[in-house]
Amino acid sequence: MKFRILTLFPEMFEGFLEASIIGKAIENKRIKVDVEQIRTFSTDKHRKVDDYPFGGGAGMVMAVQPLRDALMSKPFAQSHKVVYLSPRGSTLTHEKVVELSMLEELILVCGHYEGVDQRFIDRYVDEEISIGDYVLTGGELAAMVMVDSISRMVDDVLKNEDSSKDESHASGLLEYPHYTRPSEIDGDNVPDVLLSGNHAEIDKWRLEKSLEITKERRPDLFQKYAGKTHDKATLKVLKKYL
Ligand code: ADE
Repeated sequence: MKFRILTLFPEMFEGFLEASIIGKAIENKRIKVDVEQIRTFSTDKHRKVDDYPFGGGAGMVMAVQPLRDALMSKPFAQSHKVVYLSPRGSTLTHEKVVELSMLEELILVCGHYEGVDQRFIDRYVDEEISIGDYVLTGGELAAMVMVDSISRMVDDVLKNEDSSKDESHASGLLEYPHYTRPSEIDGDNVPDVLLSGNHAEIDKWRLEKSLEITKERRPDLFQKYAGKTHDKATLKVLKKYL
């Protein structure tokens, strides 16, 4: 999968694209990430990219010309989407992450200042996405969140095939707690069932913990999960939490 990121601050992406799983995914050519400086495309003699808002008010607005020319400087893949990161967008969810991971190409436009000229959004943007109900200083961190969460869904980016199946949100529930060695530290013990070797019991315990944590922390997700269809074993456990 290919990502194109249009930004005024390409340097913000440097560490992110080199480290850990994303760094490996790029090295192994599972994903490609092109970070493009919008300012390069400004036809203004001072490479200006923003201007005062019509109608007055605080802050500056990013102008159409540099954004449009940056966007149009490369051909798009057959299946692509242009996303503008903005606190006015619809909130990113696991479902949206999975949907976007099926694209050949995702173009992420990062705004700064008060925002971008609405005519750019109306003409070129397919979707506005927010990463949560708070305001960032720019779209760059949000673009990194998108690249990170979407890349994990791309084939062969995660090592263990299973590691994106069991985790929080994939099933509709938050994930159960994890423990590693030693089995006792500072008087704190690992739950006995996890040491029992009884996999049916372990699965049941993990489902119980997921249900308990989800009901407590995210009643909205719990209700949604309870309304879905489940196999017999799951239903039996679920009933205790309804
Ligand atoms: N830009 C500024 N705030 C944002 C947010 N919450 N999500 C996405 N992009 C943003």
